[in-house]
Order: sequence, then C-alpha cells, then structure tokens
Amino acid sequence: MGKVKIAPSILSADFNELGKEIHDVEVGGADLLHVDVMDGVFVPSISFGMPVIRSIRKNAKIFFDVHMMVTKPERYIKEMAECGADGITVHLEAVDDAMAAIAMIHDCGKKAGLSIKPETPVSAISDELLKSLDLVLIMTVQPGFGGQKYIESSTEKIREMSSRINALGLDIPIQVDGGINSSTIDIVKEAGADILVMGSAVFEGNTAENLKVLKEKCL
Ligand code: DX5
Ligand code: ZN
Repeated sequence: MGKVKIAPSILSADFNELGKEIHDVEVGGADLLHVDVMDGVFVPSISFGMPVIRSIRKNAKIFFDVHMMVTKPERYIKEMAECGADGITVHLEAVDDAMAAIAMIHDCGKKAGLSIKPETPVSAISDELLKSLDLVLIMTVQPGFGGQKYIESSTEKIREMSSRINALGLDIPIQVDGGINSSTIDIVKEAGADILVMGSAVFEGNTAENLKVLKEKCL
C-alpha cells in the first residue's frame, strides 16, 4: 500500500474564485484536477461544460481529469479534448459502445477512463475492455452531487477490481469518487484505490490547509 494520488474535484470549489482555487491546489501539490461535467440527463444536476474548461485551462498546468456524467458522451469527446482535457472518463452506463468511445478518446491523444455507478458490478467491464483503459473509476456515491456519504458496499468493489487488475497483470489505476475524506481514505486505500477524488473535503473551508492535511493521510 503505497502513496495514493489526490484529485480535487472543482465541483465543490468557490466558482467566484475558480482560478485562485485551482492555483491553490496546484501549489498545494494535487496530482490531478478532477473536472465534473454533468448534463442533467445522465445525472439529475447540471454543472458546467466546455467554455468553463477552456477558460480555466489557460493558467493551469495540472492534469485535467474530465469526468463526463453525460448521456452519449461520444458526442463531445473531440471538443472536450480540444478545450483542454488531458484525460477523459466516460460512464459504461452512458455509452453506446464502450470500446468505440475509449478508442475515440485515444484517437484524440488523451488518456481514457471508464466509470461504473454503484449498482453496476465490476464484472460489467470485460477483460478486453479493461485492458484498453488508462484508468477505471469506481463511483462510491451516486453520481450527480458533491458532499454525499460514502457507500459502504463500494469497498468490496474496489477490492474486486484491484484483484482482477493484478490477476491480469495490468497496471491500471483505480480511481474512487464520492464521499472520500479523512475518515474514508484509509478504507479505500486498503481496498486498493490509487487515485482519490475529493470535492468537499478539499474545498470546504480553507483549501490549502485541507489539502495539506489530506496529503499527509495519503502517504
Ligand atoms: C459526484 C462527482 C464528484 C464530486 C465528489 O457526482 O463525480 O466528483 O465532486 O464530491 P465529494 O468529494 O464531496 O463527495
Ligand atoms: Zn467526479
């Protein structure tokens, strides 16, 4: 169990100070910036899209990890790549053809991730599909909102995914998203998570201070 990475989710940032918030997490040593795009169809809420990403890209050097909570995300992959995503994660439940969507992301020269919702079993991702990924995202809450409580049954899914990846001899990071904070970090770390998305835990209160404390827990 080594060091895990932190991906602050700007969904919980102060949008009136978005540039500063991103700067603070970059300086604070975040590994990736998690960018949650919601369409109001795949999930109940709407967040932001391409114009915002294009703007924040200008002053940020950090890896942009775009989590698309969007129905038929294939429609936007090219544009998302052009406006500054470094990695694009789509939902297995939202694509017509997961292999084709992953190939489309790779054709744009970007890292490709695939996510599953809490009710989708790890077995829904075939070995062939798993082998094509740069990242697998296990949702640990229902996608759509920040600040929810970690779903306990996720731990077993992380464990199962981790042992599958090992059994296949692959080197794919497992990302977890939802309800991750100082009380759940150890649980997901122990189960095999490699990248922790954290929204409210990072941005509620003093961003720089929170990140410092969370980073220490991730060592
Ligand atoms: C939820 C989003 C998350 C969200 C996590 O649908 O995908 O990235 O920002 O928020 P917290 O860390 O507050 O649970
Ligand atoms: Zn997310």
